[in-house]
Amino acid sequence: MNPDTPWQAGRLDAAPGPQRLLFGQMYEDAEIERETFRGLGRIFCIASAGDTAMLLSQEHEVLACDINPVQLAYARRHANGAPRETGDADRAMRFLRSFAPLTGWTKQRLERFLGLSDPAEQLQFWRDQLDTARFRAGFNLILSRPMLRVMYSQQFLLALPPHFGSILRGRFEKGIARHPNAANPYIHAHLLGIPIESPKPVATDIEFAAGDAASVLETCAPGSFAGFTLSNILDGAAQSYRHRLIRAIRRAATSNAVVVLRSFAEPANSGDTNDAERDRSMLWGVLDIRSVNSL
Ligand SMILES: C[S@@+](CC[C@H](N)C(=O)[O-])C[C@H]1O[C@@H](n2cnc3c(N)ncnc32)[C@H](O)[C@@H]1O
Repeated sequence: MNPDTPWQAGRLDAAPGPQRLLFGQMYEDAEIERETFRGLGRIFCIASAGDTAMLLSQEHEVLACDINPVQLAYARRHANGAPRETGDADRAMRFLRSFAPLTGWTKQRLERFLGLSDPAEQLQFWRDQLDTARFRAGFNLILSRPMLRVMYSQQFLLALPPHFGSILRGRFEKGIARHPNAANPYIHAHLLGIPIESPKPVATDIEFAAGDAASVLETCAPGSFAGFTLSNILDGAAQSYRHRLIRAIRRAATSNAVVVLRSFAEPANSGDTNDAERDRSMLWGVLDIRSVNSL
């Protein structure tokens, strides 16, 4: 069955053409998965750039799947020691960073900020020297729908909350108030483009599977995974695909399995489990960690 998701195109834009490498590195804090899955058995994950699979392979057998064959081939190369490459999403982040000098963000100022370790001091620095009116106006403009439409397909844009620029600034501010900059590789990547160090994989314990997550899980034996980490694959996907994926997960899960899912969306209601602020990448609106029984 054809999965109803924009990720199937393997492109961020709506142009016809071959699938592309989108992510040379992952913007998801896999330390959360490491803690969440500690002591559990086999893990199902989304391959993306391979970072999460590589980290988890240190303690688990891992099956990494991706709907985009170009991305899957890169994840396999990366897990086998190939250097990082640059994907379209990394290029988009670089493009965003190229506006930094216009907002008064000099390299020296950013380096001073990134050297801080006290969240209270970081927050003060952010408010006094970086979150300026010029930065806010520029960031809101670049992340406005008309601008994003130039690079992203409509289906991806519909998954983003309105006023994404100001939402994302709010997420940054919360992250800065919580995670020491000096030890946070994601903020170094966002602000200065410093690549995130690749985890040391146990590559022999990673199995790679081509296809969408629901289809791959439907072919796995029942009860074969104790943990699932699904990136933000449901952003932009149809409700029918969400339901199909949940059925496939329930079938492939052990009775005590745990599921991790991220989303760029804002949390639907405050009663939902949401650990988004734990993620040092500071990008996510939802980080849902729950037992398979509560799916
Ligand atoms: C959802 S994207 C987002 C990137 C991610 N947040 C990161 O930081 O790496 C990650 C990967 O999921 C893959 N993907 C998207 N939908 C999928 C699906 N239904 N099944 C399997 N892989 C999927 C994409 O091809 C991409 O390589």
